[in-house]
Amino acid sequence: MTQKNNQILKNTNAQILDEFNASIMFDKELYKQDIKGSIAHSKMLALQNIINIDEQKSIEDGLNQVLKEIESGEFKFSLAFEDIHMAVENRLTEIIGDAGKRLHTARSRNDQVCTDFTLYVQEKTLSIKEQLKTLIETFVNLANNHTKTLMPGMTHLQHAQPINFGFHMMAYANMFKRDFERFESSYLRNNYSPLGSAALAGTPHPIDRFKTAELLGFKAPSQNAMDTVSNRDFALEILFNISTTMMHISRISEELILWSSYEFGFVKMSDMYATTSSIMPQKKNPDVPELLRGKTGRVYGNLISLLTVMKSLPLAYNKDTQEDKEGVFDSVATIEISLSILNEVIKTMIVNVDSMRNACKVGHLTATDLADYLVQKLNMPFRTAYYITKDVVSFANSLNKDISELNISEIRKSSKELENINEEIVSYLNLENSMNSRNSYGGTSTKQTEIQIEEFKKWLSM
Ligand code: ARG
Repeated sequence: MTQKNNQILKNTNAQILDEFNASIMFDKELYKQDIKGSIAHSKMLALQNIINIDEQKSIEDGLNQVLKEIESGEFKFSLAFEDIHMAVENRLTEIIGDAGKRLHTARSRNDQVCTDFTLYVQEKTLSIKEQLKTLIETFVNLANNHTKTLMPGMTHLQHAQPINFGFHMMAYANMFKRDFERFESSYLRNNYSPLGSAALAGTPHPIDRFKTAELLGFKAPSQNAMDTVSNRDFALEILFNISTTMMHISRISEELILWSSYEFGFVKMSDMYATTSSIMPQKKNPDVPELLRGKTGRVYGNLISLLTVMKSLPLAYNKDTQEDKEGVFDSVATIEISLSILNEVIKTMIVNVDSMRNACKVGHLTATDLADYLVQKLNMPFRTAYYITKDVVSFANSLNKDISELNISEIRKSSKELENINEEIVSYLNLENSMNSRNSYGGTSTKQTEIQIEEFKKWLSM
């Protein structure tokens, strides 16, 4: 048993329970949304004659003062006021007196916390979308400079077929565009105001939920009060969206780590993003992409954690859901820094065009082209062509050459079936020609890569 736990057993006093119960230590992050929600609520209460104009004015002025106090650091957060909702309301009443006590008419902390948290998630969804757009643009620009830069395309991390580096970068642009669209669609799905759902069943006061929804920038009020105060899908969605984006960030990070090793040497990351070893003076370590890859773990953890919190909660509100916030704050902070750092890493890295090209000269990347040629031009069954090509690969190995480097007499010698093969086969085994032959829509040819880039440029300028 740790010292801290012993201490807890000895002191089952109020202080510890307060600490256990409170969320103010972390939900103070929601102060802006809480105040915004309260101002909108007070305006609606006045419009509906539930409070009078003077009371509304004094509530709004008071809330603006609370906002100033929090932003200047003057505000005293204390465990005595459990959460941000109580803390703001209490300070408001201290400042303006009795009118402050009218603010909580026709609402509950249950709909208030959903309102604050939804506003937060929606704001972050928009700013993450902007960051994704910037990153996508960086990939597109890089791709644009490398539509003719040959590199080995891989499957199983083994050389497969020649591609161009721009095509590879456009694969990432596509991944991050899907992420963008995922944030966009969850924004639309969650754009409904919880405010006025009250504790779980609505309120007898003649409120106008459409008005508060409008004042807060939501599309409309949410439909069912009970669902609304029980719901944390919006938080789960941003956690999932962030997890998927981090998974993509982790995959490019993994490739950057490999590509910047001596064995690959395809890219050189700016020294800013590499660190030295404390013991090995010659080293430059890719700590930054390693951290991007590593941080993906905590983001998945936050998603699983909230899914687990929610899985057997009876309707409606349960205090368990207070556990929803820290994971979201952590995942949001993680994706924000990760997206901006990845963008800089990609923007500043140097692409080693020669290493990529040289890497294409091992592994017989154009073997499939030979098989395809035999099928297309000589009408051979594919399986026959496949075995003949295997013989050519073995022959090239015996000469210590890559299949792309064989001349016509070597090719003719390599297999009985190829004794009379047309000289044009040499051009089919050429790396550039091979890359450009994959000209089907979405393929790697320079032309198709350029089409992909053009489509993205159009999308980016929308
Ligand atoms: N701090 C609480 C939370 O984060 C606010 C809602 C509290 N409501 C209640 N009935 N205890 O979920």
